[in-house]
Amino acid sequence: MSKVLSAVAWPYANGPRHIGHVAGFGVPSDVFSRYMRMAGHEVLMVSGTDEHGTPILVAAEAADIAPRALADKNNRFIVEDLVALGLSYDLFTRTTTRNHYAVVQEMFLTVHRNGYMVEQTTKGAISPSTGRTLPDRYIEGTCPICGYEGARGDQCDNCGNQLDATDLIDPVSKINGETPQFVESQQFFLDLPALAEALGEWLDERAASGTWRPNVIRFSQNILADIKPRAMTRDIDWGIPIPLDGWRDQPTKRLYVWFDAVIGYLSASIEWARRRGDPDSWRAWWNNPDARAYYFMGKDNIVFHAQIWPAELLAYNGLGSRGGEPGEYGDLQLPTEVVSSEYLTMQSRQFSTSRSVVIYVRDMLERYQADALRYFICAAGPETSDSDFTWAEFVRRTNGELVAGWGNLVNRTATMIHKGFGEVPTAGELTDVDMSLLDLVEASFDTVGGPLGRHRFRQAIAEAMRTVGEVNKYVTEQEPYKLKDASQRDRLATILHVTAQAVSDCNTLLAPFLPHAANRVHRVLGGEGEFVPMPRIEEVEDLDSGQPYPIITGDYTPTPSWGRHPIVAGTPIAKPIPVFTKLDATVVDEELARLGLVAGAQA
Ligand code: MF3
Ligand code: ZN
Repeated sequence: MSKVLSAVAWPYANGPRHIGHVAGFGVPSDVFSRYMRMAGHEVLMVSGTDEHGTPILVAAEAADIAPRALADKNNRFIVEDLVALGLSYDLFTRTTTRNHYAVVQEMFLTVHRNGYMVEQTTKGAISPSTGRTLPDRYIEGTCPICGYEGARGDQCDNCGNQLDATDLIDPVSKINGETPQFVESQQFFLDLPALAEALGEWLDERAASGTWRPNVIRFSQNILADIKPRAMTRDIDWGIPIPLDGWRDQPTKRLYVWFDAVIGYLSASIEWARRRGDPDSWRAWWNNPDARAYYFMGKDNIVFHAQIWPAELLAYNGLGSRGGEPGEYGDLQLPTEVVSSEYLTMQSRQFSTSRSVVIYVRDMLERYQADALRYFICAAGPETSDSDFTWAEFVRRTNGELVAGWGNLVNRTATMIHKGFGEVPTAGELTDVDMSLLDLVEASFDTVGGPLGRHRFRQAIAEAMRTVGEVNKYVTEQEPYKLKDASQRDRLATILHVTAQAVSDCNTLLAPFLPHAANRVHRVLGGEGEFVPMPRIEEVEDLDSGQPYPIITGDYTPTPSWGRHPIVAGTPIAKPIPVFTKLDATVVDEELARLGLVAGAQA
């Protein structure tokens, strides 16, 4: 039994989320959190919408509304989508709360006091016609390293090098095509070199644990080699003010969005504790060396979670070469694991909202079951290498594995019990075959639970589905539908009792992956209410008199334990309604046409 922090990457509130996003951070973190709760751990799962920075500003300008109004709209939309997917956040909040501002400013001040926030003069780009600052990624030019003409001011997509906008040859603004002007500007830099040794020690210890995905630990150790100070403030008018005299009131100096976003994990934990009326209860996860913290994200976020965030924490704790003392939050725990996914592509193409190679979560869930999408992501998602979503494969897995495999087992079991007995029958004497099936199924709690606790979702779900296959095989071999004679009724009752127990166990094994289906199967087997808890949306007031907003929360304590729950003979079983919807083969062509792709063709 441990305290487990499930820290889930914060989606930008610059638009609706597509299935590539939720394949990276959303579904994996929920499956993990649900399993850890079932295994008896105290999980705190937090996240929210990331609402500052250039991405929001640019989208707001394009929509011709204020950044806050844009964030309000997208925050609500994203909240609704994540709830529809069944993601069981203890708190999903946002970065524009007063609580978040206060926590971020306290982090900044302590890091600054400890000597790790240093002021430096840099060159920043402005638009000569408007006088406004021009973020690096909105400047384009020729890469000074490889000569690629479409390099951006923050990096070159051709050679992969990190760049400064001042390095670009013939820079132009992507917004209006003019040549940017570079002016001197004061910024605060996080002194990463002063934290490099402590970061290295932490990473070495993490590597020795052997539990990180190999690509993630390798990448994290590599980027330590050329570590440089990094600006944590920007010339921008949308973001959290810098809490120092001479800076606080400057309308165009704000904290860098990534400095504030990662602090969201802490501020959301504090908000959660305050909302439940036990304001210090977050400390059991953050100040406790025995607590574990797992961070879930897509691979473009690794730098920020395996370097910038741990560095902010070490600087706050006073553990770099400049020393220092922790602030009011005390010694804060670093990540136990940075769990990163690779990329999901679609029909062999990169997701692109501008080229409309995209499937929004909202559209997907309007047409298909949430658990069908969850199943695909768990079984075929980009866990340790990039993976491809194709409609043909989605239909094949839904129909072949969910409907014909698991759904059919549930359906035929309930139908036979309903017809033969109307209730779960009492078992007679068990044969060796019965006992070995029950043993095999019970052993699956280890073979599925082991990889689940190590966030190996593909392996875990494959094991669970292999168990479903064994139960299906048992039914096929025992042929209960042939036992029609009164003299065979005892044997029939035994087989159906054993099958019902095995189905109930499989439902527990699959519950972290397929929570909506788990509740339906539970009712098919005569259960009442919910088997596994589901999240809900709540409209709340800002705790510090800001604006009201919707949160995702839930009561996840009544969670079933990870193991066998004995079924009860005599429980009434009604005629079942199918749990999964079979997809028509025409779905593939319809969806490809929607994407503007020709049926059957690949990129
Ligand atoms: N908004 C970022 C993205 O979508 C992720 C932020 S994760 C956080 O890439 F922890 F920094 F919030
Ligand atoms: Zn280049």
